[in-house]
Amino acid sequence: MIVLRDVSLILQSQAGPVNILRGANLRAGAGEHLAVVGPSGAGKTTLLMLMSGLERATSGTVRVAGQELTGMDEDQLAKFRLENVGIVFQSFHLAPAMTALENVALPLEFARRADAFDLAAKALERVGLGGRVKHYPAQLSGGEQQRVALARAVVASPRLILADEPTGNLDHATGQKVVDMLFTLAQESGATMVLVTHDPGLAERCGRVAHMEDGVVEELR
Ligand SMILES: Nc1ncnc2c1ncn2[C@@H]1O[C@H](COP(=O)(O)OP(=O)(O)OP(=O)(O)O)[C@@H](O)[C@H]1O
Ligand SMILES: [Mg+2]
Repeated sequence: MIVLRDVSLILQSQAGPVNILRGANLRAGAGEHLAVVGPSGAGKTTLLMLMSGLERATSGTVRVAGQELTGMDEDQLAKFRLENVGIVFQSFHLAPAMTALENVALPLEFARRADAFDLAAKALERVGLGGRVKHYPAQLSGGEQQRVALARAVVASPRLILADEPTGNLDHATGQKVVDMLFTLAQESGATMVLVTHDPGLAERCGRVAHMEDGVVEELR
Protein backbone atom coordinates (compact mmCIF):
# COMPACT_ATOMS: atom_id res chain seq x y z
CA MET A 1 0.00 0.00 0.00
CA ILE A 2 2.83 2.38 0.87
CA VAL A 3 6.38 2.16 -0.44
CA LEU A 4 8.80 4.96 0.29
CA ARG A 5 12.23 4.44 -1.18
CA ASP A 6 15.20 6.67 -0.45
CA VAL A 7 12.97 9.69 -0.02
CA SER A 8 14.59 13.03 0.56
CA LEU A 9 13.02 16.42 0.95
CA ILE A 10 14.95 19.65 0.78
CA LEU A 11 13.08 22.90 1.40
CA GLN A 12 14.45 26.37 0.81
CA SER A 13 14.39 28.64 3.86
CA GLN A 14 15.81 32.09 4.50
CA ALA A 15 18.83 30.46 6.13
CA GLY A 16 19.39 28.35 3.00
CA PRO A 17 18.29 24.83 2.03
CA VAL A 18 17.03 22.58 4.85
CA ASN A 19 17.40 18.84 4.44
CA ILE A 20 14.26 17.60 6.18
CA LEU A 21 14.16 14.00 5.00
CA ARG A 22 17.46 12.33 4.21
CA GLY A 23 16.77 9.02 2.48
CA ALA A 24 13.74 7.65 4.32
CA ASN A 25 12.58 4.11 3.57
CA LEU A 26 9.25 2.64 4.63
CA ARG A 27 6.72 0.00 3.61
CA ALA A 28 3.23 -0.72 4.86
CA GLY A 29 0.87 -3.39 3.54
CA ALA A 30 -2.84 -3.00 2.85
CA GLY A 31 -4.91 -2.97 6.04
CA GLU A 32 -1.89 -2.54 8.31
CA HIS A 33 -1.81 -0.06 11.16
CA LEU A 34 1.55 1.67 11.36
CA ALA A 35 2.65 3.99 14.16
CA VAL A 36 5.32 6.60 13.41
CA VAL A 37 7.26 7.68 16.49
CA GLY A 38 10.39 9.71 17.15
CA PRO A 39 11.60 12.99 18.63
CA SER A 40 10.22 16.39 17.72
CA GLY A 41 11.65 17.58 14.42
CA ALA A 42 12.48 14.04 13.22
CA GLY A 43 10.27 14.47 10.14
CA LYS A 44 7.12 12.56 11.11
CA THR A 45 4.63 15.16 9.93
CA THR A 46 6.68 15.70 6.78
CA LEU A 47 6.49 11.97 6.06
CA LEU A 48 2.67 12.10 6.25
CA MET A 49 2.64 15.13 3.96
CA LEU A 50 4.56 13.13 1.36
CA MET A 51 2.27 10.08 1.67
CA SER A 52 -0.77 12.27 1.16
CA GLY A 53 0.74 14.21 -1.73
CA LEU A 54 0.57 17.51 0.16
CA GLU A 55 4.31 17.79 -0.32
CA ARG A 56 6.50 16.44 -3.12
CA ALA A 57 9.77 14.59 -2.54
CA THR A 58 12.98 16.17 -3.82
CA SER A 59 14.26 12.71 -4.75
CA GLY A 60 13.38 9.06 -4.21
CA THR A 61 10.05 7.37 -4.88
CA VAL A 62 6.72 7.62 -3.06
CA ARG A 63 4.27 4.91 -4.08
CA VAL A 64 0.83 4.88 -2.43
CA ALA A 65 -2.15 2.69 -3.35
CA GLY A 66 -0.36 1.60 -6.51
CA GLN A 67 0.29 5.14 -7.70
CA GLU A 68 3.62 6.86 -8.06
CA LEU A 69 3.18 10.32 -6.53
CA THR A 70 6.60 11.69 -7.34
CA GLY A 71 5.84 12.69 -10.92
CA MET A 72 2.30 14.01 -10.38
CA ASP A 73 1.31 17.66 -10.78
CA GLU A 74 -0.90 19.52 -8.28
CA ASP A 75 -4.17 18.55 -9.99
CA GLN A 76 -3.23 14.89 -10.12
CA LEU A 77 -2.20 14.97 -6.47
CA ALA A 78 -5.48 16.62 -5.46
CA LYS A 79 -7.41 13.93 -7.31
CA PHE A 80 -5.27 11.21 -5.74
CA ARG A 81 -5.97 12.61 -2.26
CA LEU A 82 -9.68 12.88 -2.86
CA GLU A 83 -9.93 9.28 -4.01
CA ASN A 84 -7.54 7.57 -1.62
CA VAL A 85 -6.66 9.47 1.54
CA GLY A 86 -8.39 10.69 4.70
CA ILE A 87 -6.36 12.92 7.01
CA VAL A 88 -6.79 13.83 10.69
CA PHE A 89 -4.63 16.61 12.17
CA GLN A 90 -3.75 17.44 15.75
CA SER A 91 -5.58 20.76 15.55
CA PHE A 92 -8.79 19.48 13.86
CA HIS A 93 -8.56 21.86 10.82
CA LEU A 94 -12.31 22.34 10.47
CA ALA A 95 -13.70 25.25 8.44
CA PRO A 96 -15.09 27.62 11.12
CA ALA A 97 -17.88 29.07 8.97
CA MET A 98 -19.30 25.65 8.09
CA THR A 99 -21.51 23.39 10.20
CA ALA A 100 -20.34 19.92 11.20
CA LEU A 101 -22.41 18.46 8.37
CA GLU A 102 -20.99 20.86 5.79
CA ASN A 103 -17.44 20.18 6.96
CA VAL A 104 -17.89 16.44 6.57
CA ALA A 105 -19.67 16.76 3.21
CA LEU A 106 -16.96 18.99 1.76
CA PRO A 107 -14.62 16.33 0.32
CA LEU A 108 -17.61 14.61 -1.30
CA GLU A 109 -18.82 17.86 -2.77
CA PHE A 110 -15.37 18.37 -4.28
CA ALA A 111 -15.78 14.91 -5.77
CA ARG A 112 -19.21 16.01 -7.11
CA ARG A 113 -21.07 13.29 -5.25
CA ALA A 114 -24.83 13.88 -5.30
CA ASP A 115 -25.18 11.95 -2.02
CA ALA A 116 -22.61 14.12 -0.20
CA PHE A 117 -24.94 15.25 2.59
CA ASP A 118 -26.54 11.82 3.10
CA LEU A 119 -23.14 10.20 3.49
CA ALA A 120 -21.91 13.03 5.71
CA ALA A 121 -24.92 12.60 8.01
CA LYS A 122 -24.23 8.85 8.24
CA ALA A 123 -20.55 9.47 9.01
CA LEU A 124 -21.51 11.87 11.82
CA GLU A 125 -23.88 9.21 13.20
CA ARG A 126 -21.01 6.73 13.23
CA VAL A 127 -18.89 9.01 15.43
CA GLY A 128 -21.82 9.64 17.75
CA LEU A 129 -22.57 13.17 16.57
CA GLY A 130 -25.93 12.65 14.92
CA GLY A 131 -27.34 15.29 17.26
CA ARG A 132 -24.72 17.93 16.40
CA VAL A 133 -24.93 18.19 12.61
CA LYS A 134 -25.95 21.85 12.58
CA HIS A 135 -23.36 22.98 15.13
CA TYR A 136 -20.43 25.14 14.07
CA PRO A 137 -16.93 24.08 15.22
CA ALA A 138 -16.87 26.85 17.86
CA GLN A 139 -20.03 25.35 19.37
CA LEU A 140 -18.39 21.94 19.80
CA SER A 141 -15.94 20.64 22.41
CA GLY A 142 -12.41 19.68 21.35
CA GLY A 143 -13.28 15.99 21.38
CA GLU A 144 -16.41 16.61 19.34
CA GLN A 145 -14.46 18.68 16.82
CA GLN A 146 -11.96 15.89 16.43
CA ARG A 147 -14.80 13.42 15.91
CA VAL A 148 -16.13 15.67 13.15
CA ALA A 149 -12.63 15.57 11.66
CA LEU A 150 -12.68 11.76 11.90
CA ALA A 151 -16.03 11.65 10.13
CA ARG A 152 -14.64 13.91 7.40
CA ALA A 153 -11.54 11.71 7.05
CA VAL A 154 -13.53 8.51 6.49
CA VAL A 155 -16.63 9.82 4.70
CA ALA A 156 -15.30 8.99 1.23
CA SER A 157 -14.16 5.48 2.33
CA PRO A 158 -10.44 6.12 1.80
CA ARG A 159 -8.02 3.22 1.50
CA LEU A 160 -5.50 5.14 3.57
CA ILE A 161 -6.11 7.03 6.82
CA LEU A 162 -3.34 9.35 7.99
CA ALA A 163 -3.50 10.76 11.51
CA ASP A 164 -0.96 13.24 12.90
CA GLU A 165 -1.09 13.24 16.72
CA PRO A 166 -4.89 13.15 16.65
CA THR A 167 -5.09 13.25 20.45
CA GLY A 168 -2.43 15.93 20.96
CA ASN A 169 -4.94 18.65 21.83
CA LEU A 170 -7.29 16.50 23.92
CA ASP A 171 -7.32 15.40 27.54
CA HIS A 172 -6.48 11.76 28.16
CA ALA A 173 -10.01 10.37 28.48
CA THR A 174 -11.31 12.27 25.46
CA GLY A 175 -8.24 11.29 23.44
CA GLN A 176 -8.81 7.65 24.35
CA LYS A 177 -12.36 7.83 23.04
CA VAL A 178 -11.27 9.47 19.79
CA VAL A 179 -8.53 6.88 19.27
CA ASP A 180 -10.90 3.97 19.93
CA MET A 181 -13.18 5.44 17.30
CA LEU A 182 -10.31 5.88 14.85
CA PHE A 183 -9.27 2.23 15.20
CA THR A 184 -12.88 1.06 14.85
CA LEU A 185 -13.39 3.12 11.68
CA ALA A 186 -10.11 1.88 10.19
CA GLN A 187 -10.92 -1.73 11.07
CA GLU A 188 -14.46 -1.63 9.72
CA SER A 189 -13.32 -0.26 6.37
CA GLY A 190 -10.13 -2.34 6.15
CA ALA A 191 -8.20 0.88 5.50
CA THR A 192 -4.48 1.15 6.01
CA MET A 193 -3.68 3.58 8.82
CA VAL A 194 -0.55 5.57 9.58
CA LEU A 195 -0.62 7.19 12.99
CA VAL A 196 1.97 9.68 14.23
CA THR A 197 2.09 9.69 18.00
CA HIS A 198 4.26 10.54 21.00
CA ASP A 199 2.25 8.13 23.13
CA PRO A 200 4.06 4.75 23.50
CA GLY A 201 0.85 3.02 24.57
CA LEU A 202 -0.91 4.19 21.44
CA ALA A 203 2.02 3.12 19.24
CA GLU A 204 1.77 -0.37 20.77
CA ARG A 205 -1.84 -0.63 19.63
CA CYS A 206 -0.62 -0.51 16.05
CA GLY A 207 0.65 -3.71 14.49
CA ARG A 208 3.87 -2.05 13.39
CA VAL A 209 6.03 0.83 14.56
CA ALA A 210 8.41 2.99 12.52
CA HIS A 211 10.94 4.95 14.54
CA MET A 212 12.14 8.15 12.90
CA GLU A 213 15.27 10.04 13.80
CA ASP A 214 16.72 13.06 12.05
CA GLY A 215 14.99 12.63 8.69
CA VAL A 216 15.27 8.87 8.29
CA VAL A 217 13.36 5.79 9.46
CA GLU A 218 15.84 4.24 11.90
CA GLU A 219 13.84 1.16 12.70
CA LEU A 220 10.72 -0.55 11.39
CA ARG A 221 9.27 -3.41 13.38
N1 LIG B 1 8.37 24.59 5.56
C1 LIG B 1 9.48 24.30 6.22
N2 LIG B 1 10.63 24.99 5.97
C2 LIG B 1 11.78 24.71 6.63
N3 LIG B 1 11.88 23.71 7.54
C3 LIG B 1 10.78 23.00 7.82
C4 LIG B 1 9.54 23.24 7.18
N4 LIG B 1 8.64 22.35 7.67
C5 LIG B 1 9.29 21.60 8.57
N5 LIG B 1 10.58 21.99 8.67
C6 LIG B 1 11.62 21.37 9.54
O1 LIG B 1 11.68 19.99 9.23
C7 LIG B 1 11.95 19.21 10.39
C8 LIG B 1 10.91 18.10 10.51
O2 LIG B 1 9.64 18.69 10.79
P1 LIG B 1 8.34 17.82 11.09
O3 LIG B 1 7.23 18.76 11.29
O4 LIG B 1 8.18 16.79 10.04
O5 LIG B 1 8.78 17.11 12.47
P2 LIG B 1 7.92 16.18 13.43
O6 LIG B 1 8.71 14.89 13.56
O7 LIG B 1 6.53 16.07 12.96
O8 LIG B 1 8.01 16.95 14.82
P3 LIG B 1 6.89 17.12 15.99
O9 LIG B 1 6.94 15.85 16.78
O10 LIG B 1 7.39 18.28 16.78
O11 LIG B 1 5.57 17.38 15.35
C9 LIG B 1 11.96 20.19 11.55
O12 LIG B 1 13.30 20.45 11.88
C10 LIG B 1 11.28 21.42 11.00
O13 LIG B 1 11.78 22.58 11.60
MG1 LIG C 1 4.70 16.76 13.69
